[in-house]
Amino acid sequence: MKYLFFITSVLISFNLQAQKFEGLAPTPPLGWNSWNTFATDINEQLVKDIADKFVELGLKDAGYEYIVLDDGWMARERDADGNLVADPEKFPSGMKALAAYIHSKGLKFGLYNCAGSETCAGYPGSRGYEYQDARLYASWDVDFLKYDWCNTEKLNAEGAYITMRDALAKAGRPVVFSICEWGDNEPWNWGKDIGHMWRVSGDISNCWDCEDNHGTWSSWGVWKIINMHENIRSATGPDHWNDFDMMEVGNGMTAAEDRSHFAMWSMLASPLIMGNDLRSATKETIKTLTNKEVIQVNQDSLGIQGFRVSNDNNIEIWAKPLANGSWAMTFVNMNEEPAQLSFDWSKHKIIDEENAKKLDLQQKTYQVRDLFNHKKLKDTKHKLKATIGVHDVLMIRLD
Ligand code: GLA
Repeated sequence: MKYLFFITSVLISFNLQAQKFEGLAPTPPLGWNSWNTFATDINEQLVKDIADKFVELGLKDAGYEYIVLDDGWMARERDADGNLVADPEKFPSGMKALAAYIHSKGLKFGLYNCAGSETCAGYPGSRGYEYQDARLYASWDVDFLKYDWCNTEKLNAEGAYITMRDALAKAGRPVVFSICEWGDNEPWNWGKDIGHMWRVSGDISNCWDCEDNHGTWSSWGVWKIINMHENIRSATGPDHWNDFDMMEVGNGMTAAEDRSHFAMWSMLASPLIMGNDLRSATKETIKTLTNKEVIQVNQDSLGIQGFRVSNDNNIEIWAKPLANGSWAMTFVNMNEEPAQLSFDWSKHKIIDEENAKKLDLQQKTYQVRDLFNHKKLKDTKHKLKATIGVHDVLMIRLD
């Protein structure tokens, strides 16, 4: 009896110790996901082409790493042993071979599934198969799992994500675990020890500030998502990020809107997951996506999410403290006509109370650098002056 009790407590404590894989996302993950452009219309050649483009277009060099297959990669049924099967028509060489191809480029491979009985597009979900699926992903050398929330009925979200985290831990291969339950159960309050990132909203749409109503649910424009939640900044940080969804850069907004979207996702320390067709991307789109000075703001080691300083004359002003006392700021012109910015540093207090950081203009004159035009501007003894185009952005760094 005593012996049994001992074994049981060892097992319980072993189970309690199951942890997410620490240290896989010290800065927000950078990558590409198939959903925004291709939905379930994905295949092996497309993914290989995307991996090639990562290298050819300088995306890998800019830091992008993960290639993630979203919904639609599976066959409609599990096999006789209950294993998930890659759709044999879309992925004739199988997932292990595809992972090997992606790894051969020095990149990482991600897959998607759902905590419910079926994925959102009706493929087999992981409910009741969590450990088996995790072992399969490990055997395929998967590095990233996006785990969605359709068809979950009355499942408890935190519990369901803990189950999958534990299954991944047991399978033993380090996997970035991306929680995707659309912010419905406030994952910023419980996700930190479970996943490396969590969506804060329903699906993004390729528009500036729209709501696309689909009947029972809506998808959201860039500014709708930015404005959806206040006060979740403190939840974000190294290894546990608020995820503002895959990007729509290159998917139909104007080049200015794309720049602002990219700048804002960087200011918010969101994962930067591209969602466009890299095979046909324009030079301008690639220029935005590979802007290393902007990416550096996103990847700053402090991992602090930026905050709104104010909205002056419909110019959104945001600030983000960076390592070594530096700051990033963005000025986004929300007006339908170009705006003249004249920002008097002496008239603004820029303080991040949550993180006890202050842009200390009394003590210090900061050097100012324009991160989209890659040039030095006048220092903070002078007013910051610029013309900002419609929905365009001035993004600066203060050192
Ligand atoms: C949900 C997710 C999307 C995408 C689709 C796939 O809507 O939020 O990002 O993964 O499911 O069906």
